[in-house]
Amino acid sequence: MSDTSKTAHLTIGDSTYELPIYTPSTGPDVIDIRQLYSQAGVFTYDPGFTSTAACDSTITFIDGDKGELLHRGYPIDQLAEKSHYLEVCFLLLYGYLPKADELENFEKTITQHTMIHEQMHNFFRGFRRDAHPMATMVGVVGAMSAFYHDSTDINNPREREIASHRLIAKMPTIAAMAYKYSIGQPFVYPRNDLDYAANFLHMCFAVPAEEYQVDPILARAMDRIFTLHADHEQNASTSTVRLASSSGANPFACIAAGIACLWGPAHGGANQACLEMLKEIGTPDRIPEYIARAKDKNDPFRLMGFGHRVYKNFDPRATVMKQSADEVLDLLGVENNPVLATAKELEKAALADPYFAEKKLFPNVDFYSGIILEAMGFPTSMFTPVFALSRTVGWISQWKEQLADPQMKIGRPRQLYQGETMRDYVDIESR
Ligand code: SDX
Repeated sequence: MSDTSKTAHLTIGDSTYELPIYTPSTGPDVIDIRQLYSQAGVFTYDPGFTSTAACDSTITFIDGDKGELLHRGYPIDQLAEKSHYLEVCFLLLYGYLPKADELENFEKTITQHTMIHEQMHNFFRGFRRDAHPMATMVGVVGAMSAFYHDSTDINNPREREIASHRLIAKMPTIAAMAYKYSIGQPFVYPRNDLDYAANFLHMCFAVPAEEYQVDPILARAMDRIFTLHADHEQNASTSTVRLASSSGANPFACIAAGIACLWGPAHGGANQACLEMLKEIGTPDRIPEYIARAKDKNDPFRLMGFGHRVYKNFDPRATVMKQSADEVLDLLGVENNPVLATAKELEKAALADPYFAEKKLFPNVDFYSGIILEAMGFPTSMFTPVFALSRTVGWISQWKEQLADPQMKIGRPRQLYQGETMRDYVDIESR
């Protein structure tokens, strides 16, 4: 814990309470309210955790006003340009950029864990073919604890590390199998001669009937999407993983909980919702109608891919993603993609509209990721599974960090109770 030389004073009635203030390495100061209830008999109220630091962390820092995202201190735009996903995984897991031999060993370990237990193939066949791949991923990842119980002892550091490697390695295989199953094609086994992103594309798009060559530009774009989604401080799904972990649940159960939370359209499901919105808008001439709906308080419609709880400036990931979108669409000769044309016009119209400027609503990471994934040939139902695959390293890094925190306690928030006070039971005859 950083220095507590500063103190906050809270006065309630004629009592004043002293609350320690912690100064982080960067970002806003934090007031420690842990003793507030025992000292003053009051709770604080923050249902969306807009002003609540739920943990200590050294992994990722976001400055929403500057549009900054750092992983272990390294800016996301530098990592997206100079690094690659498995190196970022090492950085998030271990806290430093690996030397060449460390990286080689790590990549070899991940590569050799990419297959899943053959018995798990039967799981997929128990789902309907038209099940959403996220439903399949929640089920299969949760079931991993039934197959890999030799890495579920959360008090054993070696088992924690093996579980981390297994999850990072097997998530692309599981996501690809969910996709293949949904389109009635045979599963494609991982290949150790391909790198992480190329292997995922090969498992998704190869068929036994012919050779499938992964285009290196698409593999690079895929790897960049993985990197841009790897971790993001204490977002909803990461907080879900931390809360599940605080009860002592095994790593596979915790990650399955994170996948379930990410699925929501306000969170990781936004990339699918964004593309469906762009297709519903159809042509740029209908953009004003949708902008008006997004501003109408009586209309629940929101511009998917816009806005963010923390970023009140451009999401730095969206900036990189936009560059990638142009590269991929140029390569695939779909630079005239009507969806991209609508996306670019929508972005221009929204950024020029005072409503979005006042509310600091900018395109977020989900705005362009869907366009790239669609151009690559993924159906919209696979957009969030790709996000979940990418975010697994963030979830598991935060999970490991929390388990190593001596201050860790089971997460158990309280409430502002507005219900009935005590009253006696009424027999049915008297109601
Ligand atoms: C992700 O937390 C993370 O880090 C998440 C993530 C990660 O990497 O883990 O970055 C990934 O989830 C990105 C966000 C993807 N979601 C979307 O694109 C869905 C559309 N966005 C909104 O639902 C919304 O912006 C949220 C959920 C992202 C953030 O909502 P907040 O912070 O709770 O803000 P709010 O709902 O209180 O909105 C503030 C105001 C409201 O107007 P008023 O009530 O003040 O008049 O802004 C308006 C909202 O109506 N608003 C929007 C809007 N988002 C907010 N209006 C129109 N379109 C939008 N997209």
